[in-house]
Amino acid sequence: MYLDTEDEAILNGEYGETRQRMMEILVALGRVYGAERLVPIASAQVSGASYKTIGEWGLAWLQGLNARVAVPSVLNPIGMPRDGWQDIGGITTDFAEKQLEVLEAYRRLGVAAECTCTPYYLQNTVYGEHLAWSESSAVVYANSVIGARTNREGGPSALAAAIIGKTPFYGLHIVAERRPQVVIEVEGTPHYGALGYLAGKQVGAKIPFFTGIRPTRDQLKALGAAMAATGAVALFHVDRITPETRIFSFETEHLGHIAIGQEEIDGLFSDIEVDAVAVGCPHCSPAELEALADLLSGRKTTKPFFIFASRSVIAANRALVAAIERSGARVVADTCMVVSPAMDRFSSIMVDSGKALAYVPGMCGAAARIGTREECVAVATDRA
Ligand code: F3S
Repeated sequence: MYLDTEDEAILNGEYGETRQRMMEILVALGRVYGAERLVPIASAQVSGASYKTIGEWGLAWLQGLNARVAVPSVLNPIGMPRDGWQDIGGITTDFAEKQLEVLEAYRRLGVAAECTCTPYYLQNTVYGEHLAWSESSAVVYANSVIGARTNREGGPSALAAAIIGKTPFYGLHIVAERRPQVVIEVEGTPHYGALGYLAGKQVGAKIPFFTGIRPTRDQLKALGAAMAATGAVALFHVDRITPETRIFSFETEHLGHIAIGQEEIDGLFSDIEVDAVAVGCPHCSPAELEALADLLSGRKTTKPFFIFASRSVIAANRALVAAIERSGARVVADTCMVVSPAMDRFSSIMVDSGKALAYVPGMCGAAARIGTREECVAVATDRA
Protein backbone atom coordinates (compact mmCIF):
# COMPACT_ATOMS: atom_id res chain seq x y z
CA MET A 1 0.00 0.00 0.00
CA TYR A 2 1.32 3.43 -0.93
CA LEU A 3 2.18 5.63 2.09
CA ASP A 4 3.33 9.24 1.77
CA THR A 5 6.46 10.49 3.55
CA GLU A 6 4.60 11.52 6.68
CA ASP A 7 2.66 8.25 6.87
CA GLU A 8 6.02 6.41 6.60
CA ALA A 9 7.46 8.53 9.41
CA ILE A 10 4.43 7.74 11.60
CA LEU A 11 4.84 4.05 10.83
CA ASN A 12 8.52 4.27 11.79
CA GLY A 13 7.60 5.68 15.20
CA GLU A 14 8.78 9.26 14.62
CA TYR A 15 5.46 10.67 15.92
CA GLY A 16 5.25 8.51 19.03
CA GLU A 17 4.28 4.98 19.87
CA THR A 18 0.47 5.44 19.85
CA ARG A 19 0.42 6.93 16.33
CA GLN A 20 2.77 4.17 15.21
CA ARG A 21 0.38 1.51 16.60
CA MET A 22 -2.60 3.24 14.98
CA MET A 23 -0.83 3.39 11.61
CA GLU A 24 0.02 -0.30 11.96
CA ILE A 25 -3.71 -1.06 12.38
CA LEU A 26 -4.57 0.92 9.22
CA VAL A 27 -1.77 -0.63 7.18
CA ALA A 28 -2.73 -4.15 8.29
CA LEU A 29 -6.36 -3.48 7.37
CA GLY A 30 -5.35 -1.99 4.03
CA ARG A 31 -3.23 -5.01 3.20
CA VAL A 32 -6.01 -7.48 4.09
CA TYR A 33 -8.52 -5.66 1.87
CA GLY A 34 -6.09 -4.77 -0.93
CA ALA A 35 -6.21 -0.98 -0.47
CA GLU A 36 -3.74 0.86 -2.70
CA ARG A 37 -3.52 3.92 -0.45
CA LEU A 38 -5.01 5.81 2.48
CA VAL A 39 -7.69 8.47 1.99
CA PRO A 40 -8.20 11.54 4.25
CA ILE A 41 -11.44 11.45 6.27
CA ALA A 42 -13.77 14.26 7.34
CA SER A 43 -14.80 12.68 10.65
CA ALA A 44 -14.77 9.55 12.78
CA GLN A 45 -17.36 7.88 14.98
CA VAL A 46 -15.93 5.45 17.49
CA SER A 47 -17.77 2.47 18.96
CA GLY A 48 -16.57 0.47 21.94
CA ALA A 49 -17.65 3.13 24.41
CA SER A 50 -19.90 1.26 26.84
CA TYR A 51 -18.08 -0.43 29.71
CA LYS A 52 -20.78 -3.12 29.35
CA THR A 53 -19.32 -4.09 25.97
CA ILE A 54 -15.56 -3.33 26.28
CA GLY A 55 -14.96 -4.37 29.91
CA GLU A 56 -11.66 -4.09 31.78
CA TRP A 57 -9.45 -5.13 28.87
CA GLY A 58 -10.85 -2.45 26.58
CA LEU A 59 -10.50 0.20 29.28
CA ALA A 60 -6.85 -0.73 29.92
CA TRP A 61 -6.10 -0.60 26.16
CA LEU A 62 -7.60 2.90 25.88
CA GLN A 63 -5.76 4.16 28.96
CA GLY A 64 -2.46 3.04 27.42
CA LEU A 65 -2.88 5.30 24.35
CA ASN A 66 -1.27 8.71 24.15
CA ALA A 67 -2.19 10.89 21.15
CA ARG A 68 -4.94 13.25 19.96
CA VAL A 69 -7.44 12.74 17.17
CA ALA A 70 -6.75 14.57 13.90
CA VAL A 71 -10.39 14.99 12.76
CA PRO A 72 -13.73 15.70 14.51
CA SER A 73 -14.59 12.47 16.32
CA VAL A 74 -17.54 11.41 18.46
CA LEU A 75 -18.28 8.40 20.62
CA ASN A 76 -20.98 5.80 20.32
CA PRO A 77 -23.52 5.52 23.19
CA ILE A 78 -22.05 4.58 26.57
CA GLY A 79 -23.66 2.47 29.28
CA MET A 80 -25.46 5.28 31.12
CA PRO A 81 -26.33 8.96 30.93
CA ARG A 82 -23.28 11.04 31.90
CA ASP A 83 -25.37 13.17 34.27
CA GLY A 84 -28.02 11.78 36.56
CA TRP A 85 -27.15 8.14 35.93
CA GLN A 86 -28.53 7.34 39.40
CA ASP A 87 -32.04 8.38 38.24
CA ILE A 88 -32.63 5.72 35.59
CA GLY A 89 -32.06 2.78 37.95
CA GLY A 90 -30.11 -0.42 37.36
CA ILE A 91 -26.64 1.22 37.29
CA THR A 92 -24.25 0.27 40.09
CA THR A 93 -21.68 2.71 41.47
CA ASP A 94 -18.89 0.33 40.38
CA PHE A 95 -20.20 0.32 36.80
CA ALA A 96 -20.60 4.12 36.78
CA GLU A 97 -17.03 4.65 37.99
CA LYS A 98 -15.65 2.37 35.28
CA GLN A 99 -17.83 4.00 32.63
CA LEU A 100 -16.57 7.44 33.63
CA GLU A 101 -12.99 6.14 33.35
CA VAL A 102 -13.73 5.00 29.76
CA LEU A 103 -15.12 8.44 28.99
CA GLU A 104 -12.07 10.13 30.47
CA ALA A 105 -9.75 7.89 28.40
CA TYR A 106 -11.54 8.97 25.21
CA ARG A 107 -11.60 12.63 26.32
CA ARG A 108 -7.80 12.53 26.70
CA LEU A 109 -7.59 11.34 23.09
CA GLY A 110 -9.79 14.26 21.96
CA VAL A 111 -12.89 12.20 21.13
CA ALA A 112 -15.99 14.33 21.92
CA ALA A 113 -18.15 12.84 24.65
CA GLU A 114 -21.24 13.29 22.50
CA CYS A 115 -22.24 9.68 22.87
CA THR A 116 -24.58 8.90 20.02
CA CYS A 117 -25.29 6.59 17.12
CA THR A 118 -26.74 9.55 15.18
CA PRO A 119 -23.65 11.75 14.66
CA TYR A 120 -25.25 13.05 11.45
CA TYR A 121 -27.56 15.23 13.58
CA LEU A 122 -24.63 17.13 15.08
CA GLN A 123 -22.02 17.49 12.40
CA ASN A 124 -22.49 18.50 8.83
CA THR A 125 -21.83 15.30 6.87
CA VAL A 126 -22.14 15.68 3.12
CA TYR A 127 -22.45 13.65 -0.07
CA GLY A 128 -19.21 12.10 -1.28
CA GLU A 129 -17.26 12.74 1.93
CA HIS A 130 -14.98 9.96 3.25
CA LEU A 131 -15.56 8.95 6.88
CA ALA A 132 -14.47 6.27 9.35
CA TRP A 133 -17.60 5.50 11.33
CA SER A 134 -18.12 2.32 13.28
CA GLU A 135 -21.64 2.08 14.67
CA SER A 136 -23.48 -0.01 12.10
CA SER A 137 -26.67 2.08 11.95
CA ALA A 138 -24.65 5.29 11.58
CA VAL A 139 -22.56 3.70 8.83
CA VAL A 140 -25.58 2.56 6.82
CA TYR A 141 -27.26 5.98 7.23
CA ALA A 142 -24.13 7.88 6.17
CA ASN A 143 -23.67 5.72 3.07
CA SER A 144 -27.28 5.33 2.00
CA VAL A 145 -29.16 8.45 3.05
CA ILE A 146 -26.37 11.03 2.84
CA GLY A 147 -24.23 9.42 0.14
CA ALA A 148 -21.06 9.77 2.22
CA ARG A 149 -18.49 6.92 2.09
CA THR A 150 -17.50 4.74 4.99
CA ASN A 151 -16.78 1.10 5.56
CA ARG A 152 -18.20 -0.55 8.65
CA GLU A 153 -15.25 0.08 10.96
CA GLY A 154 -14.51 -1.71 14.20
CA GLY A 155 -13.93 0.44 17.30
CA PRO A 156 -10.10 0.19 17.12
CA SER A 157 -9.90 0.88 13.37
CA ALA A 158 -12.22 3.92 13.70
CA LEU A 159 -10.07 5.23 16.54
CA ALA A 160 -6.91 4.59 14.50
CA ALA A 161 -8.43 6.51 11.57
CA ALA A 162 -9.47 9.34 13.93
CA ILE A 163 -5.91 9.69 15.24
CA ILE A 164 -4.22 9.45 11.84
CA GLY A 165 -6.96 11.39 9.98
CA LYS A 166 -7.05 8.80 7.18
CA THR A 167 -8.48 5.37 6.44
CA PRO A 168 -7.58 2.66 3.87
CA PHE A 169 -9.19 3.31 0.49
CA TYR A 170 -11.16 0.15 -0.25
CA GLY A 171 -14.73 -1.20 -0.18
CA LEU A 172 -17.44 1.46 0.07
CA HIS A 173 -14.95 4.30 -0.39
CA ILE A 174 -14.79 3.26 -4.05
CA VAL A 175 -17.81 4.28 -6.17
CA ALA A 176 -17.71 1.07 -8.24
CA GLU A 177 -18.10 -0.99 -5.04
CA ARG A 178 -21.37 0.77 -4.20
CA ARG A 179 -23.52 -0.81 -6.91
CA PRO A 180 -26.71 -2.61 -5.87
CA GLN A 181 -26.38 -6.39 -5.69
CA VAL A 182 -29.97 -7.56 -5.13
CA VAL A 183 -33.43 -6.05 -5.68
CA ILE A 184 -36.04 -6.16 -2.90
CA GLU A 185 -39.63 -5.60 -4.02
CA VAL A 186 -41.87 -4.53 -1.16
CA GLU A 187 -45.63 -4.94 -1.21
CA GLY A 188 -47.90 -3.15 1.24
CA THR A 189 -47.19 -0.33 3.69
CA PRO A 190 -44.43 -1.56 5.89
CA HIS A 191 -43.24 -0.84 9.38
CA TYR A 192 -39.68 0.06 8.36
CA GLY A 193 -37.96 -1.49 11.37
CA ALA A 194 -39.77 -4.77 10.75
CA LEU A 195 -39.04 -4.63 7.01
CA GLY A 196 -35.34 -4.08 7.74
CA TYR A 197 -35.32 -6.94 10.24
CA LEU A 198 -36.59 -9.35 7.56
CA ALA A 199 -34.55 -7.87 4.70
CA GLY A 200 -31.25 -8.02 6.61
CA LYS A 201 -31.73 -11.73 7.24
CA GLN A 202 -32.24 -12.34 3.53
CA VAL A 203 -29.48 -10.21 2.05
CA GLY A 204 -26.67 -10.59 4.60
CA ALA A 205 -23.87 -8.22 3.57
CA LYS A 206 -25.16 -7.49 0.05
CA ILE A 207 -26.22 -4.02 -1.14
CA PRO A 208 -30.00 -4.07 -1.65
CA PHE A 209 -31.99 -1.89 -4.04
CA PHE A 210 -35.59 -1.39 -2.81
CA THR A 211 -38.60 -0.80 -4.99
CA GLY A 212 -42.22 -0.18 -3.96
CA ILE A 213 -41.55 2.06 -0.94
CA ARG A 214 -41.29 5.81 -0.36
CA PRO A 215 -39.76 6.17 3.11
CA THR A 216 -39.01 9.43 4.94
CA ARG A 217 -35.51 10.07 6.32
CA ASP A 218 -36.50 8.69 9.73
CA GLN A 219 -37.95 5.60 8.10
CA LEU A 220 -34.74 5.14 6.09
CA LYS A 221 -32.88 5.36 9.41
CA ALA A 222 -35.04 2.60 10.91
CA LEU A 223 -34.77 0.42 7.80
CA GLY A 224 -30.98 0.64 7.58
CA ALA A 225 -30.38 0.11 11.30
CA ALA A 226 -32.41 -3.10 11.29
CA MET A 227 -30.70 -4.48 8.16
CA ALA A 228 -27.31 -3.71 9.68
CA ALA A 229 -28.32 -5.73 12.76
CA THR A 230 -29.89 -8.86 11.26
CA GLY A 231 -27.57 -8.77 8.25
CA ALA A 232 -24.37 -6.83 7.73
CA VAL A 233 -25.81 -4.23 5.37
CA ALA A 234 -23.67 -1.08 5.21
CA LEU A 235 -25.34 0.52 2.18
CA PHE A 236 -28.73 0.27 0.49
CA HIS A 237 -30.54 2.17 -2.20
CA VAL A 238 -34.24 3.01 -2.50
CA ASP A 239 -35.59 3.64 -5.98
CA ARG A 240 -35.95 7.40 -6.60
CA ILE A 241 -35.36 8.23 -2.91
CA THR A 242 -31.72 7.76 -1.90
CA PRO A 243 -29.09 9.96 -3.57
CA GLU A 244 -27.11 7.36 -5.49
CA THR A 245 -30.08 5.87 -7.33
CA ARG A 246 -29.45 8.61 -9.89
CA ILE A 247 -26.27 6.70 -10.73
CA PHE A 248 -27.25 3.07 -10.22
CA SER A 249 -30.96 2.52 -10.96
CA PHE A 250 -30.34 1.50 -14.55
CA GLU A 251 -28.07 -1.35 -13.44
CA THR A 252 -30.64 -3.51 -11.62
CA GLU A 253 -32.20 -5.59 -14.41
CA HIS A 254 -29.68 -8.42 -14.20
CA LEU A 255 -29.87 -8.73 -10.38
CA GLY A 256 -31.67 -11.38 -8.32
CA HIS A 257 -35.06 -10.33 -6.89
CA ILE A 258 -36.56 -10.92 -3.42
CA ALA A 259 -40.18 -10.07 -2.52
CA ILE A 260 -41.22 -9.11 1.00
CA GLY A 261 -44.95 -8.75 1.62
CA GLN A 262 -47.22 -7.34 4.27
CA GLU A 263 -48.11 -10.77 5.69
CA GLU A 264 -44.46 -11.58 6.41
CA ILE A 265 -43.95 -8.20 8.09
CA ASP A 266 -47.14 -8.57 10.16
CA GLY A 267 -45.85 -11.97 11.38
CA LEU A 268 -43.16 -10.23 13.47
CA PHE A 269 -45.75 -8.49 15.64
CA SER A 270 -47.01 -10.13 18.84
CA ASP A 271 -48.96 -9.06 21.91
CA ILE A 272 -46.75 -10.52 24.66
CA GLU A 273 -46.89 -8.75 28.02
CA VAL A 274 -44.00 -6.33 28.55
CA ASP A 275 -42.69 -4.65 31.68
CA ALA A 276 -40.95 -1.70 29.98
CA VAL A 277 -41.07 0.22 26.70
CA ALA A 278 -38.06 1.75 24.95
CA VAL A 279 -37.81 3.78 21.75
CA GLY A 280 -34.96 5.73 20.16
CA CYS A 281 -32.95 3.01 18.43
CA PRO A 282 -31.24 4.67 16.61
CA HIS A 283 -31.39 7.82 18.74
CA CYS A 284 -34.46 9.98 18.07
CA SER A 285 -34.48 12.85 15.61
CA PRO A 286 -36.20 16.14 16.51
CA ALA A 287 -39.19 15.06 14.38
CA GLU A 288 -39.46 11.78 16.28
CA LEU A 289 -39.39 13.63 19.63
CA GLU A 290 -42.16 15.86 18.33
CA ALA A 291 -44.28 12.88 17.29
CA LEU A 292 -43.79 11.30 20.74
CA ALA A 293 -44.70 14.56 22.51
CA ASP A 294 -47.94 14.68 20.47
CA LEU A 295 -48.80 11.05 21.20
CA LEU A 296 -48.11 11.44 24.94
CA SER A 297 -50.01 14.68 25.32
CA GLY A 298 -52.57 14.31 28.14
CA ARG A 299 -51.42 10.77 28.99
CA LYS A 300 -49.58 9.27 31.97
CA THR A 301 -47.23 6.30 31.74
CA THR A 302 -48.04 3.17 33.72
CA LYS A 303 -44.79 1.38 32.83
CA PRO A 304 -41.18 2.55 32.61
CA PHE A 305 -40.93 4.28 29.22
CA PHE A 306 -37.45 5.25 28.01
CA ILE A 307 -36.80 7.45 24.99
CA PHE A 308 -33.19 7.69 23.84
CA ALA A 309 -31.69 10.63 21.96
CA SER A 310 -28.38 12.41 21.65
CA ARG A 311 -27.38 15.09 24.13
CA SER A 312 -27.37 17.80 21.45
CA VAL A 313 -30.81 16.88 20.05
CA ILE A 314 -32.20 16.92 23.61
CA ALA A 315 -30.55 20.29 24.33
CA ALA A 316 -31.99 21.81 21.15
CA ASN A 317 -35.52 20.52 21.87
CA ARG A 318 -36.06 21.29 25.56
CA ALA A 319 -39.76 22.13 25.19
CA LEU A 320 -40.51 18.81 23.47
CA VAL A 321 -38.52 16.91 26.10
CA ALA A 322 -40.43 18.67 28.89
CA ALA A 323 -43.74 17.83 27.21
CA ILE A 324 -42.74 14.16 26.90
CA GLU A 325 -41.53 13.95 30.51
CA ARG A 326 -44.80 15.42 31.85
CA SER A 327 -46.28 12.03 30.96
CA GLY A 328 -43.76 10.19 33.16
CA ALA A 329 -41.64 8.96 30.22
CA ARG A 330 -37.89 9.60 30.51
CA VAL A 331 -35.81 11.13 27.73
CA VAL A 332 -32.30 9.79 28.23
CA ALA A 333 -29.04 11.00 26.66
CA ASP A 334 -25.72 9.25 25.97
CA THR A 335 -26.93 5.64 26.16
CA CYS A 336 -29.53 3.24 24.80
CA MET A 337 -31.69 0.20 25.58
CA VAL A 338 -29.02 -2.18 24.24
CA VAL A 339 -25.73 -0.90 25.67
CA SER A 340 -26.98 0.14 29.12
CA PRO A 341 -27.17 -2.35 32.00
CA ALA A 342 -30.13 -0.26 33.21
CA MET A 343 -32.36 -2.34 30.92
CA ASP A 344 -31.12 -5.71 32.19
CA ARG A 345 -33.65 -5.69 35.06
CA PHE A 346 -36.64 -6.08 32.73
CA SER A 347 -37.83 -9.46 31.51
CA SER A 348 -39.63 -8.20 28.37
CA ILE A 349 -39.26 -4.92 26.53
CA MET A 350 -41.42 -3.37 23.81
CA VAL A 351 -39.55 -1.46 21.11
CA ASP A 352 -40.41 0.23 17.82
CA SER A 353 -37.08 -0.68 16.23
CA GLY A 354 -36.06 -3.70 14.15
CA LYS A 355 -32.49 -3.33 15.40
CA ALA A 356 -33.60 -3.36 19.05
CA LEU A 357 -35.85 -6.35 18.29
CA ALA A 358 -32.71 -8.19 17.12
CA TYR A 359 -30.38 -7.13 19.95
CA VAL A 360 -32.48 -6.84 23.12
CA PRO A 361 -32.76 -10.62 23.71
CA GLY A 362 -29.00 -11.22 23.53
CA MET A 363 -27.75 -7.99 25.06
CA CYS A 364 -30.37 -7.43 27.79
CA GLY A 365 -31.52 -11.01 28.40
CA ALA A 366 -35.14 -9.89 27.85
CA ALA A 367 -37.87 -10.91 25.42
CA ALA A 368 -38.50 -8.24 22.79
CA ARG A 369 -41.76 -7.21 21.18
CA ILE A 370 -41.96 -4.85 18.22
CA GLY A 371 -44.74 -2.34 17.64
CA THR A 372 -45.33 0.97 15.93
CA ARG A 373 -44.50 4.16 17.80
CA GLU A 374 -48.23 4.59 18.45
CA GLU A 375 -48.49 1.06 19.86
CA CYS A 376 -45.46 1.66 22.10
CA VAL A 377 -47.09 4.77 23.54
CA ALA A 378 -50.38 2.92 23.98
CA VAL A 379 -48.72 0.07 25.86
CA ALA A 380 -46.61 2.41 28.01
CA THR A 381 -49.75 4.30 29.02
CA ASP A 382 -52.04 1.26 29.30
CA ARG A 383 -54.29 2.26 26.42
CA ALA A 384 -53.48 -0.79 24.32
FE1 F3S B 1 -28.06 3.26 18.62
FE2 F3S B 1 -28.11 1.62 20.66
FE3 F3S B 1 -29.76 1.24 18.68
S1 F3S B 1 -26.30 2.40 19.70
S2 F3S B 1 -28.70 2.03 16.91
S3 F3S B 1 -29.74 3.03 20.04
S4 F3S B 1 -28.63 -0.33 19.75
